[in-house]
Order: sequence, then structure tokens, then C-alpha cells
Amino acid sequence: INKIAVLTSGGDAPGMNAAIRSVVRTCAYHKIECVGIYRGYQGMIEGDFKEMDARSVKGIINKGGTVLKSARSDEFRTPEGRKKAFNQLKKEQVDALVAIGGDGTFTGAMVFNSEYDFPVMGIPGTIDNDIYGTSHTLGYDTALNTVVEAIDKIRDTASSHNRLFFVEVMGRDVGHIALNTGVGAGAEEILIPEEDLGLDRLLESLRRSKQSGKSSSIVVVAEGDKIGKNVFELKDYVDENLAEYEVRVSVLGHMQRGGSPSCFDRVLASRMGVKAVESLLEGKSNFMVGLLNDTMALTPLENAIKGQSKINLELLRVSDIMTT
Ligand code: F6P
Repeated sequence: INKIAVLTSGGDAPGMNAAIRSVVRTCAYHKIECVGIYRGYQGMIEGDFKEMDARSVKGIINKGGTVLKSARSDEFRTPEGRKKAFNQLKKEQVDALVAIGGDGTFTGAMVFNSEYDFPVMGIPGTIDNDIYGTSHTLGYDTALNTVVEAIDKIRDTASSHNRLFFVEVMGRDVGHIALNTGVGAGAEEILIPEEDLGLDRLLESLRRSKQSGKSSSIVVVAEGDKIGKNVFELKDYVDENLAEYEVRVSVLGHMQRGGSPSCFDRVLASRMGVKAVESLLEGKSNFMVGLLNDTMALTPLENAIKGQSKINLELLRVSDIMTT
């Protein structure tokens, strides 16, 4: 292997830049060439490449988003699109690819590898933490800190006005962000897709907390929660059935995906980049690098996509006890 390409694809996440920096500098360390691909697989199809050396990634370890930009490519889902992408890589004399992103990114890498036997390595980058084979995806820790900070601020208003706030957080189909920020911010209740609390128990819990002398409350709701109502319908339902509280909704939205990466994400990104490049140089392919028991581990891309990320439901009990 003499030349490695790196791209970011799917939703951006804090720590992606630190991972790009790590891939580029690991290539430089091993005296091989590195090329950045702009706009994910779409840029690969269009040949939107840029040679990168160690100095070209200066000053980005602390930046959110991705300097290589990200895009979702419908064309790459077609055999014709992938053929064009392969030809671009050949033209550029690229021997291997590091793809940073989530399960969609890995699916693309895996299909590409199976069609062209092209060496690929995945780095998990998504705030959702919904990837099997790593305890943490890049951006997840930063998002947790961002959300906790936001909820702390909302709490100021909640307690000043004796209000009940439903705070909706991201996470797609999983509740990692909701569960951990719910405990970290001391939420009264946490609604996640993995455990259906049910409307009756929610009302009962809120009533109980009012009776125990609490004047305000925060309920963290995962966007993928399946309580049967979206967060605004939930507000209306509680308004109708619980006169004790004045209820408000706050949907945190994309602010959760931005910002400077936490130290944890920067270190994780640095480790993942080194592992990805060195694994390719050792002849390995079609894996994702991940963090398991504080050690870098490789998981076949197929398992990373198909497996279920493990959520720690023990935290629901901790939350229950903490809100006594
Ligand atoms: O996967 C990251 C994520 O932010 C999810 O938490 C959210 O459901 C989704 O992306 C939002 O996607 P978009 O930015 O395309 O609206």
C-alpha cells in the first residue's frame, strides 16, 4: 500500500476532523501518501480529491464538523456509481480507503470492497453511538456534554417558573444520548425506545414527584422513543391530564451535533486513525476500528452494521433511585 484515501460520510460528528488528522499523520509517519476525498462517496465518484500531508491538517483537532465535508450519495448505491468511484481511485493510484461515518457509510464501504476487492477500513463517527463493536462512536461523548449543558440551562427556567420541560434529544432509533444525559442532568424521567415506560406510569411518576415537594421537572425524551406520541403530543397529553404543572417542550436539534470535540473524542479519534491506517498496512481489510475495554479492536464491517449497540439499562434504575 502506497496511498490511502480518507473520507467522511453521513451525518457529521465532533471528532471527525481529529480522525482525519490522525489518518493523514499516520500515513506521513509511515511514509505513504494520503489523499482526502471531499463530500464522501459523491466526491469519490466525481474525483473530488486533495493530496494531504502532515501540515495540511494543522489546527483542526479542535474543530467540529468535517473539513472534508459530508454528503449522502444516491449514486454510490448503484453499481454504475461505484464503478465510476473505483475508476477515480485507480486514476489517482489509491490503494486503500478509510471511511469515517455510521452504518450507511460502512454499508457502502462493504459493498465496494466485495465488488472490487478494494481494501477498506471503517472509523465509527456519529453522535448516536448506535454502532456495534465499539463502546463509543466519535462525537458521542461531545454530544453528551453539549446536551447536559443545554439541559442545565433549561433547568434554570424550569425551576424559576415551576415548569415541567420535555427535552427532546437526538439519537435516531436508540436511547444512548437520552439515557446518559438524563442521568447526568438529573432528569425526573427518561423516555427511550429500548424501554417503554407507558403514559400511565409517566403521569404517575410526575404526580408522585409533585407530591414529594418538587416544583419543577425535566423529562428527557429520545427522538426515537416509542411511547406512542411525539414530544408535542406528549406535552398536550400531560397538559390535559396533569393540571399541577405548566408544561413546555424544548427540541435541542442540530446544536447537539456541532461544537469543539471533547478531550475524550479527540483522543479516541487519534487512536482510531492510527489503528485504521496500521491495520490496512498489515493487510487487513473490511473491518471497523472500535474501542472495547479501553483497547482498540477490529470488528468485521458486516457485524458492526448488523449487531446491536449495547445500551446500559441499569442506568434507568440508577435514575429512579436518584429521583427519589
Ligand atoms: O445520526 C445523527 C443524527 O443527528 C441523528 O441523531 C438524527 O436523527 C439525524 O442525524 C438527523 O439527520 P439530518 O441532519 O439529516 O436531519
